Amino acid sequence: MKEYSFDHFRMIEQDASVVAGRWPYTMCEAKQSLRFHRSLPGYRMTPLVSMQCAASYYQVRSILVKDESFRFGLKAFKGLGSSYCMFRILCEKLGLDEKEADYSTFCREDIRQACHHFEFVTATDGNHGKGVSWAAKIFGCRAHVYMPKGTVQARRRAVEEAGSATAVITDLNYDQTVRYAASMAKKQGWILLQDTSWSGYEQYPQWIIEGYLTMAEEITSQMKGVLPTHVFLQAGVGSMAGGMASCFMNICGDVNPLIVIVEPVAAACIYHSVLQGDGNLHSITGDPVTIMAGLNCGTPCSLVWPVLRDASARFCACEDVITEQGMRAYAKPIGSDPAVVSGESGAVTCGLLRAVLESDSLRERFQIDHDSVILLINTEGDTDPASYRRIVS
Ligand SMILES: Cc1ncc(COP(=O)(O)O)c(C=O)c1O
Repeated sequence: MKEYSFDHFRMIEQDASVVAGRWPYTMCEAKQSLRFHRSLPGYRMTPLVSMQCAASYYQVRSILVKDESFRFGLKAFKGLGSSYCMFRILCEKLGLDEKEADYSTFCREDIRQACHHFEFVTATDGNHGKGVSWAAKIFGCRAHVYMPKGTVQARRRAVEEAGSATAVITDLNYDQTVRYAASMAKKQGWILLQDTSWSGYEQYPQWIIEGYLTMAEEITSQMKGVLPTHVFLQAGVGSMAGGMASCFMNICGDVNPLIVIVEPVAAACIYHSVLQGDGNLHSITGDPVTIMAGLNCGTPCSLVWPVLRDASARFCACEDVITEQGMRAYAKPIGSDPAVVSGESGAVTCGLLRAVLESDSLRERFQIDHDSVILLINTEGDTDPASYRRIVS
């Protein structure tokens, strides 16, 4: 393992290919999750945008962007996880077979009546809370959402407007807010639906991660047999990145893609954990400040930590300026490439990729050449419209 420092970001390089094995999240889970999502009102496959002009300009085979800013009208991918997890929890509680049931089952009057009794609780920086609020509404349940200090009112309002949750901004940081939500679940008898895991709390986050895999299933069908050589994944607790990395490692077989995990430098808990070199996950403490609100997390998700640690070849910790550059690059693309609306947590991989592509030595470090097929996920649109306008203009 080696660590490097570049303009506006730091990087750990490791050889991921030495680790063989079957990765825990597969296309089986992805297919099951997609089957459920397809049954939801408003489901549409999100676009896989080909940035062909950028690819020609930078002399790579293709740059593909899965654009989650369109997902369920929520402007982020997170509703995939919360809705699938809520579906699995309700199936379990109501004795329904999750392989047979889908959204139409929950439109039956007797099931809807039963759902009214369930109340969910979660902690969120915004997008996960919007997903929980929306999912609670479609299943006819109630939800309580706690947000860390510093959350802008626009994000709190967006959580309430997305569905049936009440949202409260606490005076705690993200990790403390998660613990608070867990304590409220215990006290009030609410169901904790959290998008990260820890010892003793694993089943529900596992279903959330499986819900995210709908993206992997859609991407593989949209790529029509072409496999990515590079997958850039932004991470908060790493649930999304770990699930997606696992799927792509399984799909690609012997020719593993180069997985790049990207975090804000102020809250780079996965980077920090890898750097310790003892194989364990580690938390960062304090009150990290970054505009990448969705990635501002202090402790990696325990379920996916082994995947992130072993499957990834590069870990990057980026300053905010990198994501600002990514937001502008998406908004004003090269040539006739389509513009993509990307928020602070969505654009950091694009900003990083630009920085890499513009430097010969970095291209080499990331093993990028004429044959590279590079996959990015724009995980959110303009979830904070005022900030988006300020940065992009
Ligand atoms: C827009 C966006 N992108 C990426 C992530 C990171 O997901 P995870 O916390 O699973 O790493 C989040 C998390 O909330 C998010 O909101």
